[in-house]
Amino acid sequence: MNNRPIGIFDSGIGGLTVFKEVSRMLPDEDIVYLGDTARVPYGIRSPETVMRYSFECADFLLKQNIKLLVVACNTASAISLQEIQRNVSIPVIGVIEPGARAAVRSTANKKIGVIGTEATIRSSAYLKAIKLLDESIEAIGLPCPLFVPLVEEGWTDGMIAKMIVERYLKNLKDTSVDTIVLGCTHYPLLKDVIQDVMGDVRLIDSAVETAKVVKDTLKSQKARANRQGRQKFYVTDSPEKFVNVGERFLQNKIENIEKIQLEAR
Ligand code: DGL
Repeated sequence: MNNRPIGIFDSGIGGLTVFKEVSRMLPDEDIVYLGDTARVPYGIRSPETVMRYSFECADFLLKQNIKLLVVACNTASAISLQEIQRNVSIPVIGVIEPGARAAVRSTANKKIGVIGTEATIRSSAYLKAIKLLDESIEAIGLPCPLFVPLVEEGWTDGMIAKMIVERYLKNLKDTSVDTIVLGCTHYPLLKDVIQDVMGDVRLIDSAVETAKVVKDTLKSQKARANRQGRQKFYVTDSPEKFVNVGERFLQNKIENIEKIQLEAR
Protein backbone atom coordinates (compact mmCIF):
# COMPACT_ATOMS: atom_id res chain seq x y z
CA MET A 1 0.00 0.00 0.00
CA ASN A 2 2.64 2.54 1.08
CA ASN A 3 4.66 2.34 -2.09
CA ARG A 4 1.74 3.12 -4.36
CA PRO A 5 2.12 6.52 -6.06
CA ILE A 6 0.49 9.86 -5.28
CA GLY A 7 -1.58 11.08 -8.24
CA ILE A 8 -1.71 14.76 -9.15
CA PHE A 9 -3.71 16.27 -11.97
CA ASP A 10 -4.08 19.71 -13.46
CA SER A 11 -5.49 21.20 -16.63
CA GLY A 12 -1.93 21.54 -17.91
CA ILE A 13 1.50 22.49 -16.70
CA GLY A 14 0.38 24.86 -13.92
CA GLY A 15 -0.07 22.06 -11.41
CA LEU A 16 3.68 21.55 -11.51
CA THR A 17 3.80 24.26 -8.84
CA VAL A 18 1.96 21.78 -6.60
CA PHE A 19 4.01 18.83 -7.90
CA LYS A 20 7.19 20.74 -7.06
CA GLU A 21 6.18 21.32 -3.45
CA VAL A 22 4.88 17.77 -2.96
CA SER A 23 8.07 16.21 -4.36
CA ARG A 24 10.23 18.61 -2.32
CA MET A 25 8.39 17.80 0.91
CA LEU A 26 8.01 14.08 0.17
CA PRO A 27 11.11 12.96 -1.75
CA ASP A 28 10.44 9.31 -0.89
CA GLU A 29 7.11 9.18 -2.70
CA ASP A 30 6.40 8.06 -6.25
CA ILE A 31 4.33 10.70 -8.03
CA VAL A 32 2.24 10.35 -11.16
CA TYR A 33 1.35 13.70 -12.72
CA LEU A 34 -1.33 14.19 -15.37
CA GLY A 35 -1.60 17.45 -17.31
CA ASP A 36 -4.65 17.68 -19.56
CA THR A 37 -2.71 19.85 -21.98
CA ALA A 38 -5.02 19.15 -24.93
CA ARG A 39 -7.91 20.87 -23.16
CA VAL A 40 -6.24 23.61 -21.09
CA PRO A 41 -7.49 26.14 -19.98
CA TYR A 42 -10.27 24.92 -17.71
CA GLY A 43 -10.69 28.38 -16.17
CA ILE A 44 -12.84 29.73 -19.00
CA ARG A 45 -15.16 26.71 -19.26
CA SER A 46 -18.59 25.95 -17.85
CA PRO A 47 -18.92 24.06 -14.55
CA GLU A 48 -20.40 21.02 -16.39
CA THR A 49 -17.39 20.78 -18.69
CA VAL A 50 -14.87 21.25 -15.87
CA MET A 51 -16.68 18.53 -13.88
CA ARG A 52 -16.55 16.06 -16.77
CA TYR A 53 -12.87 16.78 -17.55
CA SER A 54 -11.97 16.44 -13.86
CA PHE A 55 -13.61 13.03 -13.59
CA GLU A 56 -11.83 11.82 -16.71
CA CYS A 57 -8.48 12.89 -15.21
CA ALA A 58 -9.33 11.27 -11.86
CA ASP A 59 -10.42 8.02 -13.58
CA PHE A 60 -7.11 7.81 -15.41
CA LEU A 61 -5.04 8.31 -12.26
CA LEU A 62 -7.11 5.84 -10.26
CA LYS A 63 -6.21 3.23 -12.87
CA GLN A 64 -2.53 3.92 -12.04
CA ASN A 65 -3.25 2.48 -8.60
CA ILE A 66 -2.62 5.71 -6.68
CA LYS A 67 -2.99 5.90 -2.89
CA LEU A 68 -3.95 9.58 -2.74
CA LEU A 69 -5.26 12.06 -5.32
CA VAL A 70 -4.37 15.75 -5.47
CA VAL A 71 -6.57 18.01 -7.56
CA ALA A 72 -3.87 20.61 -8.22
CA CYS A 73 -6.00 22.75 -10.49
CA ASN A 74 -7.84 25.49 -8.58
CA THR A 75 -10.63 25.57 -11.14
CA ALA A 76 -11.16 21.79 -10.94
CA SER A 77 -10.93 21.94 -7.13
CA ALA A 78 -13.46 24.75 -6.96
CA ILE A 79 -15.98 22.91 -9.12
CA SER A 80 -15.41 19.17 -8.81
CA LEU A 81 -13.58 18.36 -5.57
CA GLN A 82 -16.56 17.41 -3.44
CA GLU A 83 -18.10 15.31 -6.17
CA ILE A 84 -14.83 13.43 -6.71
CA GLN A 85 -14.45 12.90 -2.96
CA ARG A 86 -17.94 11.43 -2.82
CA ASN A 87 -17.13 8.94 -5.58
CA VAL A 88 -13.63 7.80 -4.69
CA SER A 89 -12.42 5.65 -1.80
CA ILE A 90 -8.88 7.08 -1.41
CA PRO A 91 -8.13 10.53 0.12
CA VAL A 92 -8.69 13.37 -2.36
CA ILE A 93 -7.04 16.71 -1.60
CA GLY A 94 -7.83 19.97 -3.33
CA VAL A 95 -6.04 23.31 -3.24
CA ILE A 96 -8.88 25.57 -2.06
CA GLU A 97 -9.25 24.55 1.59
CA PRO A 98 -5.49 24.59 2.37
CA GLY A 99 -5.15 28.03 0.75
CA ALA A 100 -8.21 29.40 2.56
CA ARG A 101 -6.97 28.07 5.90
CA ALA A 102 -3.54 29.68 5.47
CA ALA A 103 -5.14 33.00 4.48
CA VAL A 104 -7.40 32.98 7.54
CA ARG A 105 -4.35 32.32 9.74
CA SER A 106 -2.47 35.14 8.04
CA THR A 107 -4.92 38.03 8.03
CA ALA A 108 -4.75 40.51 10.88
CA ASN A 109 -7.42 42.96 9.69
CA LYS A 110 -9.82 40.23 8.49
CA LYS A 111 -9.73 41.37 4.89
CA ILE A 112 -8.57 38.84 2.30
CA GLY A 113 -8.27 39.16 -1.47
CA VAL A 114 -8.57 36.06 -3.66
CA ILE A 115 -7.34 36.05 -7.24
CA GLY A 116 -7.98 33.21 -9.70
CA THR A 117 -9.48 32.22 -13.02
CA GLU A 118 -12.96 33.35 -14.01
CA ALA A 119 -14.45 29.92 -13.22
CA THR A 120 -12.80 29.77 -9.78
CA ILE A 121 -13.91 33.25 -8.78
CA ARG A 122 -17.42 32.72 -10.20
CA SER A 123 -17.77 29.56 -8.09
CA SER A 124 -17.05 31.56 -4.90
CA ALA A 125 -15.35 28.40 -3.58
CA TYR A 126 -12.58 30.33 -1.80
CA LEU A 127 -14.99 32.85 -0.34
CA LYS A 128 -17.21 30.05 1.01
CA ALA A 129 -14.20 28.18 2.44
CA ILE A 130 -12.96 31.36 4.16
CA LYS A 131 -16.41 32.21 5.59
CA LEU A 132 -16.74 28.68 6.91
CA LEU A 133 -13.52 29.12 8.85
CA ASP A 134 -14.29 32.62 10.08
CA GLU A 135 -17.63 34.25 9.43
CA SER A 136 -16.34 37.70 10.32
CA ILE A 137 -13.74 37.86 7.54
CA GLU A 138 -14.43 39.94 4.46
CA ALA A 139 -13.15 38.22 1.32
CA ILE A 140 -12.97 39.85 -2.09
CA GLY A 141 -12.62 37.72 -5.24
CA LEU A 142 -11.00 39.04 -8.41
CA PRO A 143 -10.52 37.15 -11.69
CA CYS A 144 -7.24 37.81 -13.52
CA PRO A 145 -7.68 35.94 -16.83
CA LEU A 146 -4.54 37.22 -18.55
CA PHE A 147 -2.20 35.91 -15.86
CA VAL A 148 -2.34 32.31 -17.15
CA PRO A 149 -1.26 33.04 -20.75
CA LEU A 150 1.33 35.48 -19.42
CA VAL A 151 2.96 32.74 -17.36
CA GLU A 152 2.61 30.16 -20.15
CA GLU A 153 4.52 32.56 -22.36
CA GLY A 154 7.24 32.83 -19.74
CA TRP A 155 6.67 36.55 -19.16
CA THR A 156 6.81 36.38 -15.40
CA ASP A 157 8.84 39.54 -14.91
CA GLY A 158 9.59 42.75 -16.76
CA MET A 159 7.46 45.63 -17.94
CA ILE A 160 4.58 43.75 -19.57
CA ALA A 161 4.01 41.52 -16.56
CA LYS A 162 4.11 44.53 -14.26
CA MET A 163 1.61 46.51 -16.35
CA ILE A 164 -0.87 43.64 -16.53
CA VAL A 165 -0.58 42.85 -12.83
CA GLU A 166 -1.00 46.55 -11.98
CA ARG A 167 -4.08 46.85 -14.18
CA TYR A 168 -5.82 43.82 -12.66
CA LEU A 169 -4.91 44.45 -9.06
CA LYS A 170 -5.72 48.17 -9.10
CA ASN A 171 -9.13 47.55 -7.55
CA LEU A 172 -7.69 45.28 -4.89
CA LYS A 173 -5.13 47.92 -4.00
CA ASP A 174 -7.91 50.34 -3.17
CA THR A 175 -9.31 47.93 -0.58
CA SER A 176 -7.30 47.37 2.58
CA VAL A 177 -6.75 43.61 2.19
CA ASP A 178 -3.65 42.50 4.09
CA THR A 179 -3.56 38.99 2.58
CA ILE A 180 -4.01 37.74 -0.97
CA VAL A 181 -4.58 34.10 -1.97
CA LEU A 182 -2.85 33.15 -5.21
CA GLY A 183 -5.83 31.01 -6.20
CA CYS A 184 -4.52 29.62 -9.46
CA THR A 185 -1.73 27.19 -10.24
CA HIS A 186 0.11 29.73 -12.38
CA TYR A 187 0.06 32.72 -10.06
CA PRO A 188 2.92 31.69 -7.73
CA LEU A 189 5.17 32.32 -10.73
CA LEU A 190 4.08 35.95 -10.71
CA LYS A 191 4.64 36.25 -6.98
CA ASP A 192 7.51 38.75 -7.19
CA VAL A 193 5.62 41.11 -9.52
CA ILE A 194 2.42 40.81 -7.47
CA GLN A 195 4.34 41.53 -4.27
CA ASP A 196 6.04 44.50 -5.90
CA VAL A 197 2.73 45.94 -7.12
CA MET A 198 0.75 45.27 -3.91
CA GLY A 199 3.48 46.27 -1.46
CA ASP A 200 2.94 45.25 2.13
CA VAL A 201 0.48 42.32 1.79
CA ARG A 202 0.99 38.64 2.56
CA LEU A 203 0.70 36.34 -0.44
CA ILE A 204 -0.64 32.84 0.12
CA ASP A 205 0.71 30.14 -2.17
CA SER A 206 -1.88 27.34 -2.24
CA ALA A 207 0.74 24.94 -3.65
CA VAL A 208 2.86 25.04 -0.49
CA GLU A 209 -0.17 24.73 1.78
CA THR A 210 -1.57 21.80 -0.21
CA ALA A 211 1.72 19.89 -0.05
CA LYS A 212 1.63 20.22 3.75
CA VAL A 213 -1.86 18.68 3.81
CA VAL A 214 -0.69 15.82 1.55
CA LYS A 215 2.18 15.13 3.95
CA ASP A 216 -0.05 15.25 7.04
CA THR A 217 -2.68 13.02 5.44
CA LEU A 218 -0.16 10.31 4.49
CA LYS A 219 1.36 10.53 7.95
CA SER A 220 -1.97 10.16 9.74
CA GLN A 221 -2.89 7.24 7.50
CA LYS A 222 0.53 5.66 8.09
CA ALA A 223 0.86 5.49 4.31
CA ARG A 224 4.30 7.08 3.83
CA ALA A 225 6.72 5.36 1.45
CA ASN A 226 10.38 5.19 2.35
CA ARG A 227 12.58 4.80 -0.64
CA GLN A 228 13.79 7.17 -3.36
CA GLY A 229 10.64 8.40 -5.11
CA ARG A 230 10.17 8.13 -8.88
CA GLN A 231 8.23 10.47 -11.10
CA LYS A 232 6.07 9.84 -14.13
CA PHE A 233 4.32 12.44 -16.27
CA TYR A 234 1.34 12.00 -18.58
CA VAL A 235 -0.01 14.64 -20.96
CA THR A 236 -2.92 14.65 -23.39
CA ASP A 237 -1.13 16.70 -26.07
CA SER A 238 2.39 16.66 -27.42
CA PRO A 239 5.00 16.41 -24.66
CA GLU A 240 7.43 18.93 -26.23
CA LYS A 241 5.77 22.12 -25.05
CA PHE A 242 5.05 20.61 -21.65
CA VAL A 243 8.71 19.70 -21.26
CA ASN A 244 9.94 23.12 -22.42
CA VAL A 245 7.66 25.23 -20.26
CA GLY A 246 7.54 22.66 -17.45
CA GLU A 247 11.30 22.52 -17.01
CA ARG A 248 11.25 26.28 -16.58
CA PHE A 249 8.47 25.93 -13.99
CA LEU A 250 10.31 23.22 -12.08
CA GLN A 251 13.85 24.40 -12.73
CA ASN A 252 14.50 20.73 -13.17
CA LYS A 253 14.54 18.11 -15.92
CA ILE A 254 11.30 16.41 -16.93
CA GLU A 255 11.91 12.83 -18.01
CA ASN A 256 9.66 9.84 -18.20
CA ILE A 257 6.79 11.53 -20.00
CA GLU A 258 4.10 9.93 -22.13
CA LYS A 259 1.21 11.18 -24.23
CA ILE A 260 -2.11 9.48 -23.49
CA GLN A 261 -5.74 9.79 -24.45
CA LEU A 262 -8.31 10.12 -21.69
CA GLU A 263 -11.40 7.97 -21.83
CA ALA A 264 -14.60 9.93 -22.28
CA ARG A 265 -17.19 9.70 -19.51
N1 DGL B 1 -4.92 25.24 -13.52
C1 DGL B 1 -5.85 26.34 -13.61
C2 DGL B 1 -6.20 26.83 -12.20
O1 DGL B 1 -5.46 26.63 -11.26
C3 DGL B 1 -5.29 27.47 -14.44
C4 DGL B 1 -5.24 27.16 -15.91
C5 DGL B 1 -6.59 26.83 -16.48
O2 DGL B 1 -7.42 27.75 -16.61
O3 DGL B 1 -6.80 25.68 -16.80
O4 DGL B 1 -7.23 27.40 -12.02
